[in-house]
Amino acid sequence: MSKGVKPVSRIVGLGVSYPDNIMTNQDLEKIVETNDEWITTRTGIKERHLVKRGERTSDFCIRAAREALAEAGIAAEELDAIILGTISGDLRFPATATLIQEAIGAKNAAAWDISATCSGFMFSLYSADTLIAANRAKNVLVLGAELLTPITDWSDRGTCVLFGDAAGAAVVTRATDDRGVLSVVIGSNGSYTDLLYCVGHGTSSKGELAALNGERVIHMNGNEVFRHAVRMLERTAKEAVEKAGLDPADVDWLIPHQANTRIIAATAERLGLPMEKVFLNIHKYGNTSSASVPLAMYEARKEGALRDGQVMLSVVFGGGFTWGGAVIRF
Ligand SMILES: CC(C)(COP(=O)(O)OP(=O)(O)OC[C@H]1O[C@@H](n2cnc3c(N)ncnc32)[C@H](O)[C@@H]1OP(=O)(O)O)[C@@H](O)C(=O)NCCC(=O)NCCS
Repeated sequence: MSKGVKPVSRIVGLGVSYPDNIMTNQDLEKIVETNDEWITTRTGIKERHLVKRGERTSDFCIRAAREALAEAGIAAEELDAIILGTISGDLRFPATATLIQEAIGAKNAAAWDISATCSGFMFSLYSADTLIAANRAKNVLVLGAELLTPITDWSDRGTCVLFGDAAGAAVVTRATDDRGVLSVVIGSNGSYTDLLYCVGHGTSSKGELAALNGERVIHMNGNEVFRHAVRMLERTAKEAVEKAGLDPADVDWLIPHQANTRIIAATAERLGLPMEKVFLNIHKYGNTSSASVPLAMYEARKEGALRDGQVMLSVVFGGGFTWGGAVIRF
């Protein structure tokens, strides 16, 4: 019997999708006062995928969902719920999850979106695990998807170099042995709204924030967010590992939210994990917000890095602030 608690749920299929269109750091040099060297050393990002006009969040979700279901060997009709973490859905309403439901033919599923910024996938995974634990669902499709580049201020070099667009999906079902989600934790602190926000179409658009910034783009105090992120990622990672009944030394892979290589390195160091145990793909995609963890998990599996029986720790942090972590044995 493996060390750690017995899992309730398990990821049995993963899928991803992102736009073909690539923007490199060199391309960005033509748009804002920046350079490849600064972006690479300060963030770890070399390129990102950007949505083209006419492409929608649901398009990428549907492709990711189909791939995840195919790997899981589960039919869309067998899904009890579809939970999508996104702050950039197709429409103000209905939920983008319902558009995915219709497209894949998941006629027996309830479908809803969760707004938790970069923690959206983790919040959705938490919900799926909780539904399965409560016997309210057997099979849940969990997604994290974000098209942030259409709501990026392309004249702000402090944010426009960071983001990319993508979707990731996971099929979560009941665990039958020691493989699965050993722990999943989430949290929020609404005291820091002014450090990272987007007015967009929110009802506060006549309110205070909009008076300062009446546009629909992301605003971020990068320095301050960085500081909070490192602190909360360490705390959340330790909580997730403890709840899993493990020690940090039992973790084979740290697969964190891919926001900034320096944030990730600082987190790994605080957990006593060497960088060889950290899976990074931020150089190829930038910060894809709620899609970043399923995208990194997917690549870690496809590349043969994250093998059957291995334990991965994931931690996320985003606007709100929101955060979360999970320990999963694959
Ligand atoms: C955004 C971020 C990369 C900026 O890096 P930083 O090391 O904090 O840089 P600073 O903001 O302190 O800026 C340092 C200098 O670089 C400049 N700078 C900022 N962006 C730049 C860019 N793209 N190219 C070149 N110079 C840039 C600043 O203007 C500043 O110049 P100054 O010293 O002359 O004023 C970093 O703060 C970060 O990653 N924050 C967290 C972001 C995040 O994870 N957000 C999402 C949470 S999910």
